[in-house]
Amino acid sequence: MKIQDKHYHTIWIKEGNNKIIQVIDQRKLPFQFEIFDIETVEDAFFSIKEMVVRGAPLIGVTAAYGMYVALLNFEGDDVGKYIIERAEYLKSSRPTAVNLAFAVDEMVEFILKEKLNIDLIQLTLEKTNSLKEEEITFGDKIGEFGFEIIKNIYKKKGETVNILTHCNAGWLACIDWGTATAPIYKAHLYGIPIHVWVDETRPRNQGARLTAFELGEENVPHTVIPDNTGGHLMQHGMVDVVIVGSDRTTITGDVANKIGTYLKALAAKDNNVPFYVALPSSTFDWKIEDGISGIPIEQRDPTEVSEIEGWDGGKVQTVRLVPEKSKVANYGFDVTPARLVTGLITERGVCEANKKSILKLFPEKI
Ligand code: MRU
Repeated sequence: MKIQDKHYHTIWIKEGNNKIIQVIDQRKLPFQFEIFDIETVEDAFFSIKEMVVRGAPLIGVTAAYGMYVALLNFEGDDVGKYIIERAEYLKSSRPTAVNLAFAVDEMVEFILKEKLNIDLIQLTLEKTNSLKEEEITFGDKIGEFGFEIIKNIYKKKGETVNILTHCNAGWLACIDWGTATAPIYKAHLYGIPIHVWVDETRPRNQGARLTAFELGEENVPHTVIPDNTGGHLMQHGMVDVVIVGSDRTTITGDVANKIGTYLKALAAKDNNVPFYVALPSSTFDWKIEDGISGIPIEQRDPTEVSEIEGWDGGKVQTVRLVPEKSKVANYGFDVTPARLVTGLITERGVCEANKKSILKLFPEKI
């Protein structure tokens, strides 16, 4: 997708130097556009943990490139042992997005299989590139399937379709297109009039800072709202559909996503507003049955809540919001039970949020 009319992916190999991986530094957006270099597995760990990169699909692909740079820097005689150890280190960077473990495990399996091949480094790079390309294709397909949902609402309504989204499940969270935003971009591209309600998404404000930024760069009409506004809008018929992303979805259809998603799903249910979750297959956890007890929920630094960061017109400033003496809790994600989810939009089509329907789309996982 575009930034100032130039097409970008969120991650790429540096031109002329395939030992350096470059990413857009999302800590600085929308105020500053900066590129961050990943040359070591420690750089990859830092970029995931500190949210230079974020969003489940991008975390997965960054981790895959992290394994590639780990291999580049290998010195010693037991590459297998080294790779397994670096994989565990990378996987410990953030707990909730399952794409991280998915991508790292896939890379470990590949490297162990090819470890005696003299072209191991080149083959590993190609494998990583193919994971990246796969995520782009997933976003594109999710966009096409999700577009049909928006088109059908438009056919019935005959006027602008209002879509509410939470957090940033946009192209910045992926490589291109996004998950929740892919149907939005397709609808805009194919001429359906749409308007997006963007939850600001405290505490890190991924909605206000990132989703609003990317929709703006693509000229998609949108309005940023405080997180608590969605229920009111739904009661007044101002939301036609909710589309969110996911960081991990169980085989039974329970959805972990950015904190606050569950409350949107409750409000949507109470107001008969369809609530869809857009996700690639790399975000399914095929092992966990119960999302609430089974999905690990990240708790982040309390200063993300007690302080707020913004642009003062010349530089980024951080100010305190909460009294010094007050305790602060910062749960990064919550789980929306499958019963509140109208449907899952995947790269293979739309299914119901239950095991039978999910496995019908992904029979190889039975
Ligand atoms: O903590 P983040 O910014 O990495 O959060 C992840 C997300 O971007 C959201 O939860 C998103 O809705 C799902 S990822 C496509």
